[in-house]
Amino acid sequence: MTEPDATGERLQKVLARIGVGSRRTNEILIAEGRVRVNGEVAILGARVEIETDEIEVDGAILTTMPDVVCYLLNKPKGVISTADDPQGRPTVVGMVPESPRVFPVGRLDADTEGLLLLTNDGGLTHRLTHPSFGVEKEYLVDVVGTPSRSAIRQLREGVELDDGLTAPAAVAAVGDTGLRITIHEGRNRQVRRMCDAVGHPVARLVRTRIGPLSDPKLRPGKWRQLDQDELLDLQRAVSRT
Ligand code: URA
Repeated sequence: MTEPDATGERLQKVLARIGVGSRRTNEILIAEGRVRVNGEVAILGARVEIETDEIEVDGAILTTMPDVVCYLLNKPKGVISTADDPQGRPTVVGMVPESPRVFPVGRLDADTEGLLLLTNDGGLTHRLTHPSFGVEKEYLVDVVGTPSRSAIRQLREGVELDDGLTAPAAVAAVGDTGLRITIHEGRNRQVRRMCDAVGHPVARLVRTRIGPLSDPKLRPGKWRQLDQDELLDLQRAVSRT
């Protein structure tokens, strides 16, 4: 158990400030043993150092640093998912505020559209991109030709690519030439290569969901900051418990 400590800020107050719940709700969460500090169940009255202590609620590690930002961008076609482009093409980093400096969480190909996160939280980036955390990414794909049932089954069960067999994926037909594909690996150009492998090259690729996050109202080229509930959902999606 974490002992009350003379330094730092009261845990229930920190939880309230970062939007987990009211002070009273947070006291209940703590009393129910659902809050951990540095891996140990916290007690009411515990004090925490928000810069250094790792706080978990129901197994989800919270982002407590006040200067952490996380943007959800709807990346348009032609924009590059890096901080700089030697060829001077527009970049995703150039589409969001300059300060604090943020970096894309993984990448979308220049020709791919849709949702991309940008953050200055390196731990979150690691957990969202590392295959062992298996965060789902959903894509809406327009392909050339109409995929047969057998092509769809192959995509679902796994296709052999030059870097190995793909993991099982959720795949549904959307009209004649559309597919909704959900994968939890993050290999380079994976969806394009999967579709190529079953004889249906991609004509248009749009990412529509990252773990729990989607936003059909966010227009291409627009971004917004995640709210506290979304950040918590995201933290839960990458927690191992
Ligand atoms: N799969 C691809 O082929 N391209 C992307 O940008 C993302 C997933």
